[in-house]
Amino acid sequence: MRCAAIILAAGKGSRMNSNTQKQYMELEGFPILYYSLQTFEQSALVDEIVLVTGEREIEYCTKQIVERYQFHKVTKIVPGGSERYLSVYEGLRVVQDTDIVLIHDGARPFVTEDMIQRTIESAGACGSGITAVPAKDTVKIVNGELFSVETPPRERVWMMQTPQTFPYETILRAYEKVIAQRIKNITDDAMVLELAFHKPVRIVEGSYSNIKITTPEDLDLAAIFCKKRNKKFEKGY
Ligand code: CTP
Ligand code: MG
Repeated sequence: MRCAAIILAAGKGSRMNSNTQKQYMELEGFPILYYSLQTFEQSALVDEIVLVTGEREIEYCTKQIVERYQFHKVTKIVPGGSERYLSVYEGLRVVQDTDIVLIHDGARPFVTEDMIQRTIESAGACGSGITAVPAKDTVKIVNGELFSVETPPRERVWMMQTPQTFPYETILRAYEKVIAQRIKNITDDAMVLELAFHKPVRIVEGSYSNIKITTPEDLDLAAIFCKKRNKKFEKGY
């Protein structure tokens, strides 16, 4: 069974308010994007990595990340689109000859080998494997005037992360369908499957450390998690 990973790094990082795009900001001596690439590169289950980035960052990514750190599994570096889902689609179009595809945010450096493995297993057995964690806070749906409309029971609210993993043909068809129907406001890949085929997705428990670096305070947290991660690697467990 062949598995390909699409790693997304074509975003602008507007909520980070930084001159450098967040995926290239330094975390404990390496660009944030380096960490997820390293985990996918080292996973025995992953055969190929497609890196999706901005048109203007292709050269930087090729020389300063992929060649410099010798990520041999990266077979293609392609330009993304104006929205995340369009970047995913660009990645899906160039993946070749794979059974399973893992879609991962390059802004999530703390993905683990174990998450990769469990989402692949779930995709094979249940048609999808979506990394997620139970909500810690109560979630409210609000209207445009900030009045509450609904409070879903907290024990049934889960926060979606990545990797989100699917049989390749299924997710490609789903993306083709929602793009043809010009559906907007797509914020994750699970939604694409739900919208295209009205199919529920299967959750796989992720981790509270698998954060998406989004706003400046996430960098402080990331530095702590990173030091912990590096210690684990040094000790070899
Ligand atoms: N992404 C992408 N192409 C886009 C938008 C996002 O490849 N057009 C990627 C980002 O690089 C990131 C992941 O999707 O790795 C998750 O997106 P998000 O956290 O929203 O990143 P940005 O869109 O870059 O940030 P912001 O929304 O604050 O502008
Ligand atoms: Mg975004």
